[in-house]
Amino acid sequence: MQLSAGRSPHAHEGALTLSFDIDRARRETRGVADVVHFNNAGSSLMPDTVYESQVRYLDLEAHIGGYEAAAREAGALQQVYGSIANLIGAAPDEIALVENATVAWDMAFYALKFEPGDRILTAQAEYAANYVAYLHVAGRSGVVIDVIPNNEHGETCPDALEEMIDERVKLISITHVPTNGGLVNPAAKIGAVANRHGIPYLLDACQAVGQMPVDVKELGCDILSATGRKYLRGPRGTGFLYVRRGLIESLHPPMIDHFSADWTAPDRYELRKDARRFENWENNYGLRLGLGVAVDYAADWGLDAIWERVQALATRVRRGLGGIETVTVHDIGRVQCGIVSFSVDGVSPEQVKAALAARKINVSISDPSSTLLDSMARSLTPLVRASVHYYNDEQEVDRLIDVVGKIADGSAPVVQT
Ligand SMILES: Cc1ncc(COP(=O)(O)O)c(C=O)c1O
Repeated sequence: MQLSAGRSPHAHEGALTLSFDIDRARRETRGVADVVHFNNAGSSLMPDTVYESQVRYLDLEAHIGGYEAAAREAGALQQVYGSIANLIGAAPDEIALVENATVAWDMAFYALKFEPGDRILTAQAEYAANYVAYLHVAGRSGVVIDVIPNNEHGETCPDALEEMIDERVKLISITHVPTNGGLVNPAAKIGAVANRHGIPYLLDACQAVGQMPVDVKELGCDILSATGRKYLRGPRGTGFLYVRRGLIESLHPPMIDHFSADWTAPDRYELRKDARRFENWENNYGLRLGLGVAVDYAADWGLDAIWERVQALATRVRRGLGGIETVTVHDIGRVQCGIVSFSVDGVSPEQVKAALAARKINVSISDPSSTLLDSMARSLTPLVRASVHYYNDEQEVDRLIDVVGKIADGSAPVVQT
């Protein structure tokens, strides 16, 4: 596969310029024979190699024992850290493997120390799990949560952020790609402001990693959280945390065990010096291996090529749906990703989802409560979310548009839900 130069997520808004072996991508994804899967922002279809690596590992555990299997595969398990580090421009000792993005995010967030009156600056489209944690900490320690206004494109505004900075700002924490639509926040510009003022920057990159190039140095983030099952196409129950090396030792995890810390004397323990201080002892090693295989698989395709194809397919979805009279596409932002959110006049999202599912097309529903502030500001009701990935093809997209058109004009029956 030929790759072009730039790694910027903003570089590929136009035509498809990279060749992409879509036949190979589909040949290597067994699920495409069964479903048209547009729920990649929920949990993507695994490539066969990810599936097979887990089955092989489970088999090994069944045959030789769990501890023995982990010992035999120790090298491959260690390499998962290297693969993730490579993917995001970090070092292996800056990565912790945990069970999902929320645990990754929480382990770092709850390790930060706040005084009454300290300010956390966040985004309007912040994810619910993060925002309730801000509220939790605000209730406990008197922290103030301030929301950075959007610019006219609906993106978290770096200039507005600059204006909000004072000595009480102790954290800038935003979602890179919100769960409820196409928006890609200008995460690197936000990072530049944070870095200029020496304020820790926590980035929820859960929906970004795997669909676009993500480089922690280019983004200027100190902490980043991500999940395995979405755009990385890894197994469910996997996630990872990145913490910049210079910050690790100042962060005391909210929970520790004898893996994250050595018990060195009856009254003393010593925390690990690497990011694995945010892990604990017992883990599902088969899932970890599967995550590593998924990361290597994504890297093999190339994140520039993946990003360009995802944007091209999403553009086709938006244009097609946008051409249907009674359908509204709700995506905002100048750079738009693989998540397309829409509604059909007079047909509930549940009915749309069920009618599509009856034709083996998977979509999901984005509830206002998952991004409450954004939903309130834009008066959003529950929306249908169709999220594309590179292994989807143009025929699948056209089928989606055709069926939604029929749902919209009443020629495809919808069930009462
Ligand atoms: C933006 C965003 N952040 C965080 C999460 C939480 O990820 P996980 O379910 O892996 O904890 C999600 C999940 O949908 C998400 O969309």
